[in-house]
This record gives sequence, structure tokens and C-alpha cells, in this order.
Amino acid sequence: MTSPPATAAIVQPDAPDAIDAAARRLRDGKLVAFPTETVYGLGADATNDRAVAAIFDAKQRPAFNPLICHFPSTDAVLRSMRLPDAALDLAKRFWPGSLSIVATRPVDCPISRLASAGLDTVAVRVPDHQVARRLLEATGRPIAAPSANLSGRLSPTRATDVIASLGNVDLLILDGGACRVGLESTVVAVRPDGRIELLREGGISREDLEHVSKQSVSPVSDPDEVRAPGMLARHYQPRIPLRIDATEAQAGEIVIGFGPMSANMPKANLNLSPTGDLREAAANLFAMLHDAETGGARAIAVTPIPDEGLGRAINDRLKRGASGTR
Ligand code: TXA
Ligand code: MG
Repeated sequence: MTSPPATAAIVQPDAPDAIDAAARRLRDGKLVAFPTETVYGLGADATNDRAVAAIFDAKQRPAFNPLICHFPSTDAVLRSMRLPDAALDLAKRFWPGSLSIVATRPVDCPISRLASAGLDTVAVRVPDHQVARRLLEATGRPIAAPSANLSGRLSPTRATDVIASLGNVDLLILDGGACRVGLESTVVAVRPDGRIELLREGGISREDLEHVSKQSVSPVSDPDEVRAPGMLARHYQPRIPLRIDATEAQAGEIVIGFGPMSANMPKANLNLSPTGDLREAAANLFAMLHDAETGGARAIAVTPIPDEGLGRAINDRLKRGASGTR
């Protein structure tokens, strides 16, 4: 018996138990699409690596790109993050609202490393939509959410747009009607010294940001960095050399395996997924690379990962990491 294909379902947020049921799904590691004032988000528990991996799988993103984490209030943000004063000033003026702030991850940050796509920063936002806020409060955890569309397609501003893109995904969609802003949030990075950089234009204008921050806010000069900062090679270089497609272990290497190990490499020190599940491997990738680089080994060797589905995103990251450490 094969199980029936997954399908997305739309529910009205004011139906009895709708928000609580959606919150339970999120806490169980499943996906919920929800309205924000900008666009619909494809949400997962931001503290659960496997749930975050399911977002990348559902969107069929060709490579991991860091995700915005949503919170019900600034106080809730500050329980997971520390924000420099310049960021707090922006938060005071623009939250709840269409501004996402990228700041450094604290050491004890509960947000999944996959949501950060391996960067040492997290993007955070308090959306200005009562359905989003009720969902965030009921869930009691930050929700990681990119726009709820297949990679490369239009961002959805109605529940039916989400169905058109993600109708075959096991997904609950909270219908909040049409999004008021209809354009994704403005993304700024606030550096530890208070400097503000514009990473993506959006619902909040550069002039408004400059007025509140009393500094000139320059767009980052590298357009690649605006589109997909997570794709820059330098973000993925482990501190020790990384060798990919390894079929045998060399002296001093820590081995990260995938699936059942082969005869010439009977055992890996770490295994992204002993059963060969790409979603599990994606969920473990950055945390294992991080553990490997701090474990005292001379170098990291990773065994081959199938180049299909999420495997392509995993291999993209590994290739960048490996090319940086010649
Ligand atoms: O309005 C929005 O922002 C919507 C709703 C759902 O909140 N979300 C959204 O997410 O547009 P997404 O994944 O489509 O776009 C997120 C953007 C990307 O450009 C990503 O590169 C950037 O935010 N971003 C996320 N985390 C980042 C980080 N740690 N550093 C730099 N850029 C980051
Ligand atoms: Mg998007």
C-alpha cells in the first residue's frame, strides 16, 4: 500500500480550534502557511532542524538560502536574540511591520542553524497581521518562513496562490484574505558596531530607515549578496579543510557520512542520515559541519551525497565549502 499523495488544505482562522490546531502542527514539526501583511509565509518551527529542512524540500529551493524567523513581539525576539541598540531603535519604530533585521546569532541561540543557512546571523521580524500574531503566540516558538511559493515562482498574497504553488505539499493554510502590503519585507543587516546595510528593498523605504536611524543606509554593493547572501562561498568555509565525495578516510580527518557506510569506509564519525534520508541530512548538515570543525581534527571528509532533491542544495553548500579551503 502506498499512502495517498499529500495535499494542502485551506482553513479559516476563525473556525473553532483552527489556530490551536495549526500551532500543534508546527510544534509537531509540520508545515503551516500563514498570512502576514507582506505575503503568505511557509512556516515551520524555527528551532527544529528537521521542520526547517521540510521548508526547503517543499519549496524545492536549489540551494539553501537563510530564512526569516517570525516572532509575536520584540520581547519574544529578545528571548532568542540580542540586538544592537541601532537595531532596537528600528524595532521600536517599525515593529510590528515589514522590516526584517539581520543580526549576529548569540552563542545560546535556539534557532536552527539551517534557518541561518550556516551563517553566523539570523533574520528576525515581528509581522503586523493578527492571524500571524495569534499563530505565533499559540505556538510559543519562533516560526521560520520564506514566502509560500515554489522556488522561482511569484510570492503569494492570497491563500489560493499558495495552493497553486504548493497544492501537493502536506500543508495547512490559514486563510487571512489578501495581504495588505503585498511586497516582501525590507531586509537590513545591523552590524555589531551599529552600521546598517540594506540587503533587500521592501515594504519600508530607505528614507524612512535613514530618518529613524540618523545614518545613511547603503545598499550592499554586491548584487549577489542582496539576492542570496547565503550563496556566497566565503560564508561556508569551515576553519579546517573540507574534502567532498570522499570514499576513504585519510589521516587526521573526521568523516561525515551519509547512508549505510561502504566496505572501504566502514564507519563515519558523524552521519548526516544513517538511513539515507535527504531531509534528515539537510537538517543535520550545518550543525555537524560546525561540530566537525571544532572537534580537533585536521580536516573534514564527507562521503558522496546523491545529487537529487535536497541533495543538490546539500552538495551546493559542500562544494562551496570545499573550494574555499584549498
Ligand atoms: O515579507 C517577508 O519577508 C516574507 C514574509 C513571509 O515574512 N518572507 C520572505 O522570505 O520574503 P524569503 O525567504 O522569500 O526572503 C528572505 C530574504 C532573502 O533574501 C534572504 O537571503 C534574506 O532574507 N535573509 C534571511 N536571513 C538572512 C541572513 N541571516 N543574512 C542575510 N540575509 C538573510
Ligand atoms: Mg521569496
